[in-house]
Amino acid sequence: MSETTPRKILVTSALPYANGPIHLGHMLEYIQTDIWVRFQKARGNLCTYVCADDAHGTAIMLRAEKMGITPEEQIARVKSEHEADFAEFGIGFDNFHSTHSEENRELASEIYLALRDKGHIATRSITQLYDPVKELFLADRYIKGECPKCGSGDQYGDNCEVCGATYTPADLKNPFSTISGATPVEKQSEHYFFKLPDFQDFLKDWTRSGTLQQEVANKLSEWLESGLQEWDISRDAPYFGFEIPDAPNKFFYVWLDAPVGYMASFKNLCARRDDLDFEEYWKAGSDTELYHFIGKDIINFHALFWPSMLSASGYRTPTAVNAHGFVTVNGAKMSKSRGTFIMARTYLNHLSPTYLRYYFAAKLGSSVDDFDFNLEDFVQRVNSDLVNKLINIASRTANFVKKSGGQLSETCSEAAMVSDFIAAGEQIAEYYEKREFSRAMKDIMALADRANEYIQEKAPWAMSKEEGREQDVLDVCSVALNLFRQLMTYLAPVLPDLADKTCDFLNLPDLNWDSRTTILSGHSINKFKPMLARAEMDKVNAILEETKAAQEKEAGTAPAPAAAEKKADKKDNKKAKSKGPALREDGNEVIADTIDFPDFAKVDLRIARIVAASHVEGADKLLQLTLDIGNGETRNVFSGIKSAYQPEDLEGKLTVMVANLAPRKMKFGMSEGMVLAAGPGGSEIFLLEPHEGAQPGMRVM
Ligand code: MSP
Ligand code: ZN
Repeated sequence: MSETTPRKILVTSALPYANGPIHLGHMLEYIQTDIWVRFQKARGNLCTYVCADDAHGTAIMLRAEKMGITPEEQIARVKSEHEADFAEFGIGFDNFHSTHSEENRELASEIYLALRDKGHIATRSITQLYDPVKELFLADRYIKGECPKCGSGDQYGDNCEVCGATYTPADLKNPFSTISGATPVEKQSEHYFFKLPDFQDFLKDWTRSGTLQQEVANKLSEWLESGLQEWDISRDAPYFGFEIPDAPNKFFYVWLDAPVGYMASFKNLCARRDDLDFEEYWKAGSDTELYHFIGKDIINFHALFWPSMLSASGYRTPTAVNAHGFVTVNGAKMSKSRGTFIMARTYLNHLSPTYLRYYFAAKLGSSVDDFDFNLEDFVQRVNSDLVNKLINIASRTANFVKKSGGQLSETCSEAAMVSDFIAAGEQIAEYYEKREFSRAMKDIMALADRANEYIQEKAPWAMSKEEGREQDVLDVCSVALNLFRQLMTYLAPVLPDLADKTCDFLNLPDLNWDSRTTILSGHSINKFKPMLARAEMDKVNAILEETKAAQEKEAGTAPAPAAAEKKADKKDNKKAKSKGPALREDGNEVIADTIDFPDFAKVDLRIARIVAASHVEGADKLLQLTLDIGNGETRNVFSGIKSAYQPEDLEGKLTVMVANLAPRKMKFGMSEGMVLAAGPGGSEIFLLEPHEGAQPGMRVM
């Protein structure tokens, strides 16, 4: 069982830069964190998840300039885009703030002054390359030139992509500023340094005290052995950031105030929440927990500079820093030209976020290994696990319960099995706690397999045809839905959207971890509605195409309109070909794609009587049909059979309809299903007419 006293936990994800959109690499981190947070909340802990945009730095300043707006306008725009992306992926931040905020200015200044007063700040003059046209000191990435070793042109200021030589920007031949094109000059200025070597001993202990993953601690101990350097925390004007309190025209380097942004976001939230107290969470010796989720590229900031800053300024240090690896796509680095540098928004234009959340969970462990997003495996995995295994449990049993009155059995006929499922939650919880999500998913899917085997073996659909077995059918389906409820409780942190749908369907207030221990009996449920469509490879390909097109546009290499059109034509053709039935040489259609039995079983075919038929004003092909599908239920359907039938010939006839086709809004009204017919078209369309013994409402098997 979960803890008796709720833990107080503060969780952060790294603050995304406000100079660009969120991509799927970022999403790994936010989804990983969000799952962990939702898990903690489901366990009854007081868990708070804060984040913010990282709004400072030269890149953001230059970006705004390029767009002809102020940095403030730029960061406001990006913030609303980021927030929209996160919301659609179900990232449940308790607060999403900005590092360009009053709280952050105050806290960053206060921490800096504390460090200074304790003697941890040094100043000295350094020489740097300077753009005399732009009047700006140049970070290495804004300087290019010829490699001092092999002479290749257009190389960045720190290493040569051709021969691999490493050097400093001052070594480049014929250097130029990538901002103005001017030749940089050397210029001196006074800089402020954080004396990290003062913290050597503290860090040796801290990094070994269980706060870091083993592999991360090992890496850091190499750095610690070879000695630490002072950290340059100031930048000269012009810079978009906070001015250093005692140093006019000097600004905090973006990485000084960025992690302070975690505190600032939390402080901003505390002003709105009575149950959260800033001091309680941040004062030295706090007994609350603090976790930072980050990518492996920013470990030194979080595991060296940040804990040192905190401890020296009288604040608590993190309970743990959890680093993850980088997302690769199909085994390679995300690439703009291959179309695999996928923006969150582009993904959302085509696919449900539920798929990605599940896929990340299904493959993510607690290590810093890179994460391969294999597109084929992705489609296959989410369909087989979520659609075929998980949702299938509910979709093939719910209707039997509904038919027998919508109430689960009073007693559970398989209490031992349901208890097993409940007991399995302890191990699954442990996996979540340790961020071993892939292990949790594996256990959950093994349970889903068991549930499906049980249903398959009992075959309620067959039982339901036998006289007097109504109670048996209800018992089996009630067990199945209890199992489904257990599974959804375990998956709720990963699949919040499906969890909400499950609460609606099973008529439950929530899926909190402890509430699962009471078996649902004599409990009323609601109508089952489809929860998740299958993922399609076509949609994945559309994402890659859109990503490539956006990249071409950005790079100014968009194909000429004529060529672009041709390309689009070709694509449409290909699509038409792969979608439609393949033709054999004799012209007969062959069945190209197969579907699984569970897919077929989802089609609800019913006998219907056409009680009324009429022409549709303004439609060339359609007739409007009113169908009686039994139990007093009627459906309105528009059907393209006008060329073959007169309305009056249809009235009174029986036919077969797809009763669970999602209603579709047409120009002439809502169509609520589809009738089945065969034939080549024109006057040769033959409505399927079942034998007269059939009655409206009967299922077609
Ligand atoms: N602004 C800094 C973080 C400041 S935290 C006080 C930053 N921003 S970022 O936008 O570049 O990255 C945000 C997070 O996303 C980082 O943890 C980073 O490691 C992560 N990722 C960025 N690209 C990624 C992948 N391709 N794969 C996985 N994570 C990635 O760094
Ligand atoms: Zn070179």
